[in-house]
Amino acid sequence: MNILSPSILAANFWELGENIRAVEKAGGTYLHIDVMDGLFVPSISFGMPVIQSIRPNTELFLDVHLMINQPERYVKEFAACGADLVNFHIEATEDVKGTIELIRSTGKKVGITIKPGTAVKELEPYLELVDMVLIMTVEPGFGGQKLIPECLDKVTELRKLALEKGLDLDIEVDGGITIDNVKAAIEAGANVIVAGSAVFKNDIGANVSKFLEEMQ
Ligand code: DX5
Ligand code: ZN
Repeated sequence: MNILSPSILAANFWELGENIRAVEKAGGTYLHIDVMDGLFVPSISFGMPVIQSIRPNTELFLDVHLMINQPERYVKEFAACGADLVNFHIEATEDVKGTIELIRSTGKKVGITIKPGTAVKELEPYLELVDMVLIMTVEPGFGGQKLIPECLDKVTELRKLALEKGLDLDIEVDGGITIDNVKAAIEAGANVIVAGSAVFKNDIGANVSKFLEEMQ
């Protein structure tokens, strides 16, 4: 089953609740939440209080993408404030395995992420330990960028590797995904699709419906 995970980074924060309702109403099941610290990536987005405000008001699966240095410092807090899955960059910590174990210990799902410049082979030691791998299809830090096509080759490589290992791995893509290239991402092997600016502009519900249709 392919899943759409709309990124609220592109939402209107004045109307965040209504924007999230529109995703739900159109049949969305996930929400992608981009946390940036101004160090791992140049920009700063939002953190725990925003997730905490969303959590009691929606059943959507909260897919939290940490773009922060030393994510192990905050795993417990993100789990406590309502994340369903905690996803961190392997480039951001010296203790990938320990961070995976820490997330596991909270009972939440575990995701690991790589930037466009990081090779798929770097993920190999951890594939059996995680639920999801996020392959960034732009440099992390900002919404509204263009997809880097070579990153889809990494998706294909990872799907092949997962199949060889007999793993039923969720592979997520994030950055520059639009209604016109989402099929290519799925054909490459992704099954969880993040879309920010392509969802949270104009008619959110109509955008979600279009994506879900295209992703079948
Ligand atoms: C970028 C974030 C993305 C971003 C995607 O660093 O991780 O989740 O919101 O936005 P679009 O879909 O506009 O590229
Ligand atoms: Zn993201």
